[in-house]
Amino acid sequence: MEIIMRHLLNPLDFSTEEIDALLDLASDIEANPTSYKTVCSGKKLATLFYEPSTRTRLSFESAMLNLGGSVLGFASADSSSAAKGESVADTIRVISCFADICAIRHPKEGAPMVAALHSSIPVINAGDGGHQHPTQTLTDLMTIRSLKGRLSNLTVGLCGDLKFGRTVHSLIHALARYTGIRFILISPPELKVPDYIREDVLKARRIEYREVQNLDEAMPHLDILYMTRVQRERFFNEEDYIRMKDCYILDRAKMKLAREDMFVLHPLPRVNEISTEVDDDPRAAYFRQVQYGVYVRMALIMTLLEVEKPC
Ligand code: CP
Repeated sequence: MEIIMRHLLNPLDFSTEEIDALLDLASDIEANPTSYKTVCSGKKLATLFYEPSTRTRLSFESAMLNLGGSVLGFASADSSSAAKGESVADTIRVISCFADICAIRHPKEGAPMVAALHSSIPVINAGDGGHQHPTQTLTDLMTIRSLKGRLSNLTVGLCGDLKFGRTVHSLIHALARYTGIRFILISPPELKVPDYIREDVLKARRIEYREVQNLDEAMPHLDILYMTRVQRERFFNEEDYIRMKDCYILDRAKMKLAREDMFVLHPLPRVNEISTEVDDDPRAAYFRQVQYGVYVRMALIMTLLEVEKPC
């Protein structure tokens, strides 16, 4: 019988039932971390990062080390043979000789898919250009489920750069599969969600959504506010970036407009879009979100390597 190797390239690669199972495993890891400390003994994770990262790369590494495995990899294209012109296809063939699983971040959309086509080990998309960031989405889903107790019947505000923000695209795709989800999309006109998200996801699935510019008006209606950074690295024109970079700044005054049971998420890094005065608000969940990211990546590594849950 042929064994089908699984990758995670897109947030929809897993069914909602598989995501529920993965989040259940992540929650069990959170509750019983010592039970998992040797389950990946002898296994190696390669992190191939062609773009800068703090959270994703180090949380993958932390996840594998927590499972008793080992890590290897590179943190920039310049420190790999990509600088000499090696293709992603060739690199992944080589990495397949060194590791059991890999996480790849690349500025070009679709690069992790190319890697998966040439790989003999599971490939995880750790962010490709302005396209998708599925492990951030799993992290966001675990955070929302842990804080709100559900992934359905929620009004979710997404604020900032909705055009280039891959975490936003992935989260809309993922949440659109749950019942009773409503989106309020808060952005300047130049940074609205791409047409394919509006047409192929929101309209195609008949999801209730509104596109607005004013964050204050949206605040009282939200269960979750997902803030994002305006990403300098995605702009072709510095003038446009400077004009839009501070278009939304969440501060204490804006938080007063929100419900007591609303939570603020942000994939991080933040620049100015959340004032540090919000950090002490119990509804500010963005650093807790980082911790959930480790549990979820531990569960994902176990799932893709088909490692049994300890008894
Ligand atoms: N959230 C996220 O992708 O952060 P890094 O760019 O630091 O990995």
